[in-house]
Amino acid sequence: MRILITGGRGMLGRTLVRHWQDSHDLLVADLPEVDITRPDSLAAVFDAFRPQLVVHCAAMTNVDACESDRDRAYLLNAQGTANVAQSAAHAGARLFAISTDYVFSGDRPGDRDEGDPTAPNTVYGATKLAGEDAVRALCPDHVIARIAWLYGAGGPSFVHTMVRLAKEDPTRTLKVVDDQFGNPTSTDAVADALTAFIARPDLRGTFHLTCEGVISWCGFTREILRLAGFPQVNVTPCTTEEFPRPAPRPNFSALSKAKLAANNLPSMPPWQDALARFIAAEWPQ
Ligand SMILES: NC(=O)c1ccc[n+]([C@@H]2O[C@H](COP(=O)([O-])OP(=O)(O)OC[C@H]3O[C@@H](n4cnc5c(N)ncnc54)[C@H](OP(=O)(O)O)[C@@H]3O)[C@@H](O)[C@H]2O)c1
Repeated sequence: MRILITGGRGMLGRTLVRHWQDSHDLLVADLPEVDITRPDSLAAVFDAFRPQLVVHCAAMTNVDACESDRDRAYLLNAQGTANVAQSAAHAGARLFAISTDYVFSGDRPGDRDEGDPTAPNTVYGATKLAGEDAVRALCPDHVIARIAWLYGAGGPSFVHTMVRLAKEDPTRTLKVVDDQFGNPTSTDAVADALTAFIARPDLRGTFHLTCEGVISWCGFTREILRLAGFPQVNVTPCTTEEFPRPAPRPNFSALSKAKLAANNLPSMPPWQDALARFIAAEWPQ
């Protein structure tokens, strides 16, 4: 299949390329050659490559920077996504658009379903939601895949930061937020899930693709350091108030995957298994 991957040199895009390069004809559409904010740039690459599937990863992903540069966040995440959706529809291609748990407010415990009301608390979340709405309006043959707490080969990610800090000083104490909960998710797990969607052209709509199981950032850190061989690093829990950030982080961002089973799709792996596989590959001991 001819698959065009926007943002294909980003963290998720690189993993998709690794998973699919031997089985599909891939085109990486990323800056500087392709700019999703410019319809003429997209038209040129769509006309030349004639994709059958578009996987839209390109985005402004720095959530704090989105707060201070709202215009650019809307241009990339809302208008850019609308441009990609329009191009995919015009080409008759299927579209997988990558979205986020930040479309929810994250202010109550429990796993969010795909149909739960959205209420973003950040510019990043609002712009990604506007992108989702554009995909629904412009490209009927779409899958919106919401992911969260992502890490993958090469980073940057929370996992890479924690391992770097531990390597710098294995005797240090790390203070980590213990009142925000979510589903840590590897790009490999997302790639496996999207591979299953490729085999199911009948599926359309919004799906949650995070790993199974819920943990706090503090608990996640303890498992990262245990698996990476730094059990002596002291991890101390702290509260969100002790770490104020420009973009408020959701306290509860776990996503329900019941819809996968309901559609006879493979389940997502437990976050501990995905993390163990990732750390063994990224930092072999
Ligand atoms: N990372 C997470 O924790 C997380 C969580 C939930 C959802 N997501 C979503 O998952 C998707 C992939 O995330 P990621 O972490 O792989 O992102 P990433 O590493 O930041 O990659 C995004 C890629 O898009 C490129 N890009 C930026 N502006 C572009 C433009 N105008 N035209 C074409 N390409 C452009 C970037 O290039 P430059 O580097 O040159 O800017 C980068 O290569 C995104 O849609 C994100 O919103 C991520």
